[in-house]
Amino acid sequence: MTITPDTATTEENPNRPLRDALGLLKDRERVAERLLESSKKHSFDPETELDWDAEFEEGKWFWPPELVSLYDTPLWKRMPEEQRLDLARHEAASLASLGIWFEVILMQLLVRHIYDKPLTSSHVRYALTEIEDECRHSKMFARMITKSGAPTYPVSRIHHNLARLLKTVSTTPGSFTATLLGEEILDWMQRLTFPDERVQPLIRGVTRIHVVEEARHVRYAREELRRQMVNCPRWEAEFTRISSGEAARVFSISFINPEVYTNVGLDKREAMAQVKASGHRRDVMQTGARRLTDFLDEIGVMRGIGRKLWVSSGLLPR
Ligand SMILES: [Fe+2]
Ligand SMILES: [Fe+2]
Repeated sequence: MTITPDTATTEENPNRPLRDALGLLKDRERVAERLLESSKKHSFDPETELDWDAEFEEGKWFWPPELVSLYDTPLWKRMPEEQRLDLARHEAASLASLGIWFEVILMQLLVRHIYDKPLTSSHVRYALTEIEDECRHSKMFARMITKSGAPTYPVSRIHHNLARLLKTVSTTPGSFTATLLGEEILDWMQRLTFPDERVQPLIRGVTRIHVVEEARHVRYAREELRRQMVNCPRWEAEFTRISSGEAARVFSISFINPEVYTNVGLDKREAMAQVKASGHRRDVMQTGARRLTDFLDEIGVMRGIGRKLWVSSGLLPR
C-alpha cells in the first residue's frame, strides 16, 4: 500500500479576525469538504490492511529506542539490550492505552460538538467520519496491545475521573485544545516510528495508518479552534487557556504509566526520577509539542496562567 501523510496540516492560514459569520460558515464547510474528499481516498481498515498473524521479529523494537522514556539515562546505559527492548514493548502498550483513552474522550467531545449544528452540513458529516476513524483506531490499538503480550495501562483513577469531567462540561474551544494535545505529540512520535526499519513491521503499519488518518483530525481541530478563539466570549477564551494548561500538565504526567518500569524488572521510583532528570527526554517532549505550542501561541491560547501551567507541564520551554 502507498500511503503519504496529508501534509495539509503544516500549512497555516493567516488569522482573519474580521471575517463575518457567513464567511466563517463557508470556510468551515470548505474545510470539511476537503477533509471528506481526503477521507474517501485515504482511509484504511486495519483488520484487513495489516498482517495480524505474522510473528514478531526477533531483535526488532516496538518503539524507536530514542523515544523510550529512559533512553540515554544512567539506568538505560546499565540495562542489557533485552531489557531495553522489553521496556520499549511495554511503553508502546502504555502509549496505545493512552491513545484509546484519548480517542474515547474525543469521540464524546465530537458528538457534543455537532449536537446543535446543522445536521446535513459537511462539517457534521466530517465529524461523523472522524468518529468512524477513531472507532477503527481504538480497535486497532487494542488488538496491537493484545498481540504484543503486554498488559493494558490505564491512566490513574484521578486522571480518569478528571477527564470524565472535561468531556462532560468542557466548552468547545477547550475541547479542541484537548484534542490537539492528544493528537499532535503522539503524531510527531508516530511520524518517526513508521519509516524506522528497526521497528516491528506491525507497529510500523499501525503507526502509518494512524499518521495518515490523524492528519485530517489535526486539520479539522486546528481550523475549528482558530475560528472559535476569534469569536468566543472573553471568559471562554480565558477558560480555554487555563483548562488547556491543566490538560497539558495531566497529559505529561500520564504520558507513560510508571508500572511499565516495574513490569520489566526495574525500580519504579529510581526509573521515574531518572526520566524526570533526563535532558534527552525533556528535548523529545518539547520537540514533539513544538508544532502544537507554536500554533496555540499564534491563536492566543498561550497567555497568563495558562502559559505558566504549560511551562510547569514541561512541554513548553521556560
Ligand atoms: Fe486516532
Ligand atoms: Fe484522531
